[in-house]
This record gives sequence, C-alpha cells and structure tokens, in this order.
Amino acid sequence: MRMRVGRLAACLTLALAACAPAAKPRVQPVTPPAVAAAPATTTAPTAMPVSLGLVPWPRELAAGTGPGLDVGPASKIFVTNAPAALRIAGDLAALVARSTGFRPPVTPFVPGVSEFVPPGSLSVTLVPGTTLPEGYQLIVEDSRLRLNAAAPAGLFYGLQTIRQLLPYWGEYDAILFQRPRPALIPPLTIRDAPRYEWRGAMLDVARHFFTVDDVKRFVDLLALHKMNRLHLHLADDQGWRIEIKKWPDLTAKGGATEVGGGAGGFYTQAQYSDIVAYAAERFITIVPEIDMPGHTNAALSSYAELNCSGQAPPVFTGTEVGFSALCVGMDFTYLFIDDVVKEIAAITPGPYFHMGGDEVKKLTPAQYRGFVERVQTIVQARGKQMIGWDEVAAATLLPTSVVQHWRPDAAHGELARAPHLILSPGNRTYLDMKYDDDTALGLKWAGLIPVRTAYDWDPAAIVPEAPAAAVLGVEAPLWSETIANMRDAEFLAMPRLAAIAEVGWSPAAARDWERFRVRLGAQGPRWAALGINFYRAPDIPWK
Ligand code: ACM
Repeated sequence: MRMRVGRLAACLTLALAACAPAAKPRVQPVTPPAVAAAPATTTAPTAMPVSLGLVPWPRELAAGTGPGLDVGPASKIFVTNAPAALRIAGDLAALVARSTGFRPPVTPFVPGVSEFVPPGSLSVTLVPGTTLPEGYQLIVEDSRLRLNAAAPAGLFYGLQTIRQLLPYWGEYDAILFQRPRPALIPPLTIRDAPRYEWRGAMLDVARHFFTVDDVKRFVDLLALHKMNRLHLHLADDQGWRIEIKKWPDLTAKGGATEVGGGAGGFYTQAQYSDIVAYAAERFITIVPEIDMPGHTNAALSSYAELNCSGQAPPVFTGTEVGFSALCVGMDFTYLFIDDVVKEIAAITPGPYFHMGGDEVKKLTPAQYRGFVERVQTIVQARGKQMIGWDEVAAATLLPTSVVQHWRPDAAHGELARAPHLILSPGNRTYLDMKYDDDTALGLKWAGLIPVRTAYDWDPAAIVPEAPAAAVLGVEAPLWSETIANMRDAEFLAMPRLAAIAEVGWSPAAARDWERFRVRLGAQGPRWAALGINFYRAPDIPWK
C-alpha cells in the first residue's frame, strides 16, 4: 500500500479537500486548514496561499506544478553524512512516520558517488554558502522533497516548515498505533531566511518558579515558531533561581519562596546546563538575566552583608517594584557580582549576560550610571556581552553592549545611540498584558494587547532614529506575577508568541493581518494535539 501525498499546484490555493485524487480515496481527505486565497507565486501580500497555514510566513514561496511528495514503503531520507544533518533527518523520519504511517529509513549520501534522490524520497543536504544565515530551501517537485541549507540551523527551520505542511495529527504521540492516513505536501519552492537575527521570548522564573520540564516545554513553543533566543529572568525581589556555588544562601534562602508565598525553587547548575543543552539542540540560545541593582530583594535577604545597613530584609512575596537596591558604593558588592557573573558565564555557552538594570528608584542618576558601567566591565572581563533593559542606555556603553527597549515612552535619543537594540515594546510584545478587560490572568499597565496589536507593528518604526543595523530583532517577555504554571503561561503566550515570531521572521512586505489571522487559525488543531492551553481569541478563525 502506498499513501498518496502528491498534489497539484492548484492545491496551494484551493481548499485542500478539493485536491483529493480523482480516484476514490482510501480514507477521508484532509479538512482544509483555511480558506482559499489568490494564486500563489510570490510573497507579495496579494498572492499568498493562506491555505498552507505556515507561521511564520516564509520570505519567498512559489507554487510548483506536477506531483508533490509521495511517501510510501520504499521512501527513504537521503542525508549529508554529518552529525547535525543526520539528527535532523532522524527527526524528519519520525515526523513523516507520525504523519503518514511510513517511517523512511535515513541513508547517508555517499559523497561523489551518488546524490540521486528517487521519486517518493526526501533529502536533507548541507551545502555551505547556498543560503542566507539561518536560511533554507525547501523544494517539493517530481514526487520528491529536498531540504537544503548552508548550516544546521537552516535545516532545523526547514524541518519546522515541513512540520506545518504535514497534517496536525502527526503531533499525537500515539499516532503510530493508528492506521496510516494521507498527508498532503503540495509541489512548491520555498526560499526562506529570517528578517532578524534575534527572535526571542523571555520567561520570568523569578516571580513564580517554573520547573526544568516547564522551561523545556516553553523552548518547544519557541522552536515550533523558528525563534532562537530564550531569555531567562533568573533573579528578582521574590526569588533567586540559579545555584551559585560560592553563595549558597542565594538559593537556600532567596530561592525558597515566590509571589503569593509558594515554595519557589531553583535550578542547580547541572539543571541549568540541561536546559541550555535542550535549547541548543533546537538552535535556541539561552540568555541568563540577573536583575540588578534593583529587583534584588532575594539576594539582599539571603546575605546581610550585601546591604548598606548590614541588616537583611525579609523575603518578599508581593508584587510591588522599585524598593530594593544593591549597595552600589561598596566594593564588596562588585566582588559578589563578579562571582555571580563568573559562575553563570562558565555554564552559558551563548555570548550574552543580561544585567537587568530596570526600575531603579533608590539611586541617583550618577550612581546608577556608575553601577552599570562597572558591571559592564565585569561582564566583559568574564567574556560576555552585556544586555540591559532600556534604562541602561543612559550609561556609556561598550560597542558590544545591547539595550533592550521595553518602555514605550523611553527616550529615543538615548536608544538611537545604543550599540545594539532588542525591541520589546511593552504595548506590543509583553505577553503578560491582558488580551481584553475580561482576561482573568495578566496585567494591563502597558495596555490591553489583543492578538492584532501583538502582530500589526513594524520593528523598524519603533525607534526610527536608530540605524537599521543596530536593531538585532524582537523579544516577547512573559512576566510571571499573575501566572503560576505552564497552563497559565501558555494561555498568555499563545497565540501572541506566534504573532511576535512572525514579526521577527517574515519580511515586512509579506505581513498582512487578514492573512495572518487565517494562517494562525489553522494552527488550532496542531496546538490542541500538542496540549497547548491557547487563548481562543475571538477574532481568529480557529479550525
Ligand atoms: C520591565 O518590564 N521592568 C523590564
């Protein structure tokens, strides 16, 4: 028995049910993921085949002609004989198996002998120099699927695209025990690469603690949408969440509670390394943040000697901000910071260390600037690039330092001088803002953020005075004052995380709210199969 997965070019633009073979199908055709749209040939907004349901939308997509992919018992996956390519080919085999009922064996190409891919088969090829950074090409034609990239990250992003082209039922773990089903991949050519190098999200594990498994699940949500940075907010007034071997009370005392007085928690360095490795397998860089000099009550309550008064304050389980500050005039404070940066830098392969720097109400502007500049030197000496929230733009920054814009009213003059910028405007990207007045979870100090508000903005217009080359990209922070577990986190993150992913990945000219909302709606069955507790936003046509 062969499962037909080839389709005509028309299937790109028509409801997929209309693409069922003329002969009586063995099983029911797939429900179309979305409505019909204009003919598909380019990324021009008027010519998008929204029925493909891809999020984020690729840089270039053209419909092909003739048969698409036709997977059957004889199908194989041919692959460049390199560890990263072999791993991605293995993941592709598992995905195809869950989607079609056939598991194609993975077969390395024999270099120089044959790179022939027979009909019905797939190939995963690393070809240096052929694609933009993080880019890939996906060509489905003549009953074959070819995925090419210059580097492993591109292959991984191509795999996520294939995942969204295959039916949602492949997300069910037990699907292999079910009868085979048809899976539809039409003929097409995709040449894709991201608009921005920084496509991130932040998870606040300090206000409420999230377990290693929670964080991995959050990583999975990022990976599904081709995001590549996970910023972990590891310390705040309510909790210190990362083991520092030289300062054990940071976690023993400062990690033992959270907002509302729950038990809190922390990651051992081995657990943190496990998260880093899990993320790296998905081409996601972990960005650790220790917020300072404010947001430091957890540290100050753990060690009396960090306080100017010599007295440790009690632990804090409320949600006010701005009341704590390190003793910035004391050299001992910088020895402490150096120990912390040193231990975290040693277990963080990524190039960044985020020092927070936000909402400091207890210091003079001169004290604040002096603190930031001294910490910047420490971070650099420990081999990392410093990132700080946008208040740090008031200091004299090194050419390597990065400013993370968050306050919609932050001074543009300072931001325009930032060596590098990450855009997290609170009124667009803050995943902890409520969707509407009825949303039970979340806050609204930056405004209500319905999905359209999260989607319908251009990063290039946020700080127009900043040189385009300074803008690294976008990041969506999820603060956890009002969320206590992953179910809550998913409700606020999804679907807005997908919207921000597209803001960061897709070319501005290809973005269009009306088409996006239909493609987003097509994710519903996949997210449901993955058990994601997403918000069924009323303006999205959920499938
Ligand atoms: C922030 O939201 N305080 C960076």
